[in-house]
Amino acid sequence: MKVFENHSLLGYNTFKMEVVCRQFIDLESPDELKDLAAQGGLTPPYYVLGGGSNVLFTRDYEGCILHPVFQGVEIVEEDAQSVTLRVAAGTEWEDLINYCLEHHLYGLENLTGIPGLVGSAPVQNIGAYGVEVKDCILAVEGYHLPTATPFRYEAADCRFGYRTSLFKTELKGRCFITYVWFKLGKEPHFTLTYKALTDEMARQQLEPSLENVVRCVRSVRDSKLPDITEIGCAGSFFQNPVVPAVQAASLKSQIPDLVSYPAGEGVKLAAGQLIDKAGWKGYREGDAGIYPKQALVVVNYGHARPEEIKQLYEKVISDVNNKFHITLQPEVNIL
Ligand code: EPU
Repeated sequence: MKVFENHSLLGYNTFKMEVVCRQFIDLESPDELKDLAAQGGLTPPYYVLGGGSNVLFTRDYEGCILHPVFQGVEIVEEDAQSVTLRVAAGTEWEDLINYCLEHHLYGLENLTGIPGLVGSAPVQNIGAYGVEVKDCILAVEGYHLPTATPFRYEAADCRFGYRTSLFKTELKGRCFITYVWFKLGKEPHFTLTYKALTDEMARQQLEPSLENVVRCVRSVRDSKLPDITEIGCAGSFFQNPVVPAVQAASLKSQIPDLVSYPAGEGVKLAAGQLIDKAGWKGYREGDAGIYPKQALVVVNYGHARPEEIKQLYEKVISDVNNKFHITLQPEVNIL
């Protein structure tokens, strides 16, 4: 375990906010969390930080950041059709994708390119191009905080939904995920339902294969989303709103090409399109902006201060609400 006091978080959040925390702890094994709890070292406030790719720090954090750095992929079961992997929380998500490519395991390929750590993936049920991580998760292991009592939730008990789970709702701020269990296929099987992805496969004239799907997802992402090594951001800043069908129908008179997808009782709209139609795409104020190629992404072009990002996203919420009577909800965790 490595403990740092008054630690800069600049290198630990992809929004590149220049804030500090009171204490920062690198946990090199799950047992270290148990030791910490046993020594009475887990007193709130604390926050479990993965890759920092879905968080906006709006000020210095006056608590303790718990940062899992233990990594590794272990095969726990295998049969003719599938492999069960137990993957440590501190593993980079893209390292898992590369493991799947090397070992010819199917299921997660559409999720290539998502920044962050494996332990964070179930929290918001990461998703892209027609796949959500819940589709491949078997179980999630971890500790309840602050007692460090172990848990294991089977997928059916994780309450996965669109960008949400048990860990983002009832257990928010009260759990530390240590391992995620995935069940992946050994036989080729692809989800090619998302238009942008199928268009790219056709454009590049590629047959479906693990490598080709990964290659096309990466090119679609590169064409729409910023490179986080160059531009600060946290992916989609807002959730796509789900509204009653009647509201979507009336909005269609205002936005004839309104994008919508059926979603349970209601209709899911594309927040990016609403922000775009409201005229914010490419808007920039100082170093805070709305990404010119995808309006759902709030960006930090260099040294935007947290309050500048906050002012900008609040203006967007209020303007979209004035124009379309829809209140966008941030998808990122705001601290
Ligand atoms: N659109 C616009 N203008 C924009 C952005 C989008 O008109 O500025 C329209 C697009 O033309 C398209 C529709 O809105 O018809 C949807 O856009 P896109 O396919 O880019 O997907 P999204 O709904 O904006 C979601 C996820 C992304 C994920 C993509 C692909 C959320 C909040 N976002 O975006 O996830 O990569 O689908 O599956 O659900 C993330 O969560 O960080 C993230 C990047």
